[in-house]
Amino acid sequence: MLKKFSIIALLLALVLVLVGCAPKAPQATATPVPATEAPATAVPATDAPAAAVQEPAEAEALELTVEELAQYNGKDGQKAYIAVDGIVYDVTNSAAWKNGQHNGFEAGKDLTAEIKDKSPHGVAKLDNVVEIGKLVTE
Ligand code: HEM
Repeated sequence: MLKKFSIIALLLALVLVLVGCAPKAPQATATPVPATEAPATAVPATDAPAAAVQEPAEAEALELTVEELAQYNGKDGQKAYIAVDGIVYDVTNSAAWKNGQHNGFEAGKDLTAEIKDKSPHGVAKLDNVVEIGKLVTE
């Protein structure tokens, strides 16, 4: 009889151990629903930065022909641009180029030969002014 009881007791203990390990199913109840809503609302916001990025790209790509450059002579409120070696410089805010005039030279022109052959300073002074674009042939 005692043997029977101890066997049953052992079996019961075994069953209890097994049952104790088994029921751990309800854990995967994480709800990722709010996470999917955030990207959906972020989509329209990406339009604005995309448009803003285009502006500097256009500014960098400024290209002027000799004819177009001529209007930037620093007179009548116009900006004053000069070109040297295919680069266009803005001298509007330079005190030495007041009203687009500088020691007998005028803005709105390609002054490559003049700055190299006639100026006492050469091209080194171009480091003082802002490069804004390129001089193109068409
Ligand atoms: C007889 C001819 C020239 C003389 C005597 C002359 C003289 C000078 C002097 C004294 C300065 C310094 C001005 C200052 O720091 O306040 C200067 C600056 C400058 N010059 Fe001339 N220059 C002559 C021709 C030219 C030409 C042909 C160019 C054509 C691109 C030129 C472009 C410049 C530039 C870009 C500066 C710098 C302006 C600044 O710092 O804001 N110069 N020049």
